[in-house]
Amino acid sequence: PGGKNACCSVSTSQELHKDTSLLYNFNWDHCGKMKPACKRHFIQDTCLYECSPNLGPWIQQVNDSWRRERFRNVPLCKEDCESWWEDCRTSYTCKSDWHKGWNWTSGSNKCPAQAVCRTFESYFPTPAALCEGLWSHSYQVSQYSRGSGRCIQMWFEPAQGNPNEEVARFYALAMTSRAMLHGIGPLLLSLALMLQLWLLD
Ligand SMILES: *[C@@H]1O[C@H](CO)[C@@H](O)[C@H](O)[C@H]1NC(C)=O
Ligand SMILES: *[C@@H]1O[C@H](CO)[C@@H](O)[C@H](O)[C@H]1NC(C)=O
Repeated sequence: PGGKNACCSVSTSQELHKDTSLLYNFNWDHCGKMKPACKRHFIQDTCLYECSPNLGPWIQQVNDSWRRERFRNVPLCKEDCESWWEDCRTSYTCKSDWHKGWNWTSGSNKCPAQAVCRTFESYFPTPAALCEGLWSHSYQVSQYSRGSGRCIQMWFEPAQGNPNEEVARFYALAMTSRAMLHGIGPLLLSLALMLQLWLLD
């Protein structure tokens, strides 16, 4: 992982285009063949996850047996979420949270006993249910639109540069200044207090 934008552009490892992503042995066809129009969103999703140097602001340390960090609440542009949902609503799955609960005994993910294959639409009634629920809140559906510079685009034309770089810079700055404000507030308060005591003295 970790290449620059190129990773998601032209040759995004051919692996991703096979039925089972060899990257994780994750099988998208766990309830019969996923429609190609739907699958391309999952390829793009994996791509963003694997190859984006721009998701830094949303990385969080976790203490799972199988990973040390994860993304949380990456603000996905609303149109990207809507078209993902629209293209997938008629494909089939058996779970609404794909992070956990699979039967991995065969080496790739199988539906656990009792999990029934139904349409995406019945497991994910809305675009937000899909984009936010699928990977337990790795994404958050943004109120912003593609091109706004305020949300992460799953789809973009690499030849025209990666729009997510600016978005990441914006949020990194916003998060830093918020943290600084919280850090400095108490300091200013105690300085004011000291000054007051000193003036009273
Ligand atoms: C991570 O989990 C292990 C085992 O559950 C525990 O011993 C360790 O203290 C945890 N570390 C943190 C930082 O929570
Ligand atoms: C997992 O799948 C295997 C077959 O691949 C099956 O024998 C086993 O009972 C399954 N386990 C659960 C918990 O569903």
